[in-house]
Amino acid sequence: MHADALKLSPTVAGLWRLGEWGLDTPGLVRWIEQALELGGTSFDHADIYGGYTVEARFGEALAAAPGLRERLQIVTKCGIKLVGPARPAHRIKSYDSSRAHIMASVDASLRALRTDRIDLLLLHRPDLLMDPDEVADTFRHLLAAGKVLHFGVSNHTPGQLALLRKRHPLVTNQVEFSPLQMQALADGTLEQCLDLGLRPMIWSPLGGGRLFAEGADAQVQRVRAVLGEMAARHGVSEATVALAWIRRHPSRPIPVTGSGRLQALREAVDSQSISLTAEDWYAVWQASMGHEVP
Ligand SMILES: NC(=O)c1ccc[n+]([C@@H]2O[C@H](COP(=O)([O-])OP(=O)(O)OC[C@H]3O[C@@H](n4cnc5c(N)ncnc54)[C@H](OP(=O)(O)O)[C@@H]3O)[C@@H](O)[C@H]2O)c1
Repeated sequence: MHADALKLSPTVAGLWRLGEWGLDTPGLVRWIEQALELGGTSFDHADIYGGYTVEARFGEALAAAPGLRERLQIVTKCGIKLVGPARPAHRIKSYDSSRAHIMASVDASLRALRTDRIDLLLLHRPDLLMDPDEVADTFRHLLAAGKVLHFGVSNHTPGQLALLRKRHPLVTNQVEFSPLQMQALADGTLEQCLDLGLRPMIWSPLGGGRLFAEGADAQVQRVRAVLGEMAARHGVSEATVALAWIRRHPSRPIPVTGSGRLQALREAVDSQSISLTAEDWYAVWQASMGHEVP
């Protein structure tokens, strides 16, 4: 496998909130086709989204529109065990990176998504009991079987990523990063991606909607004021500037959007062609932190 052979679109569409969008299967087919027209060809899932229901909804859309699967890339995740009616055997919420769990989870995702392959599989959260040799061996098996084409992690520390990457190629770390949540800048996560040439995937790039929600706290108000000024200057929306701010990092982050509105996806795609100056970037950093750099 070549770690650089995976082609994700520069904006990835996240399906976590699909249940809130009120789309039936024909509506979801249209939504996927419109996303593809905008250039968003990669779709981010997890086995657990919607209480283990979202992958199957997407799979119904793929089955209803033959040919669609060949035009898109599917990212999904495994490793979290949720308690609920879909998985009655789970007694408590926990993480599981055992060979048995990963294999079963991949088979369930393939069935739900009605596809024969996952383009990119991520370990959703770091399993404190992870045996990296067992995970690497499982990844090799899934690759040889043609079930998964590429592998990565999500929410892993640089040390956890390194532990696994020593044993198997990884293509990304999907982490939270936004003008409201900048931990990945401070804890070495983005630097490691840059060093290893892995493009990080970014979840909740708009703070999970907090950036635009009612009742903004002082941090949000400061950030919105700065984004608003830049948005006016560039003639784009504040969301576009927020995503351009994320993209400005040299690790070339790939934002994963969370909205079901096509306009929001369009605004995310627009951010691909906005280049912020370093001073503009630091103005957002300063607004978020509430103080200038030392
Ligand atoms: N790996 C992980 O652990 C992890 C964790 C969380 C999420 N994810 C992935 O990341 C994706 C994105 O996360 P997220 O949903 O939290 O992303 P987000 O873009 O930070 O938040 C999306 C939310 O913001 C709202 N919103 C308000 N104003 C908006 C605007 N102007 N433009 C766009 N959205 C606006 C959206 O509502 P409307 O729909 O009304 O626009 C939606 O509820 C998820 O779908 C999932 O695929 C991964």
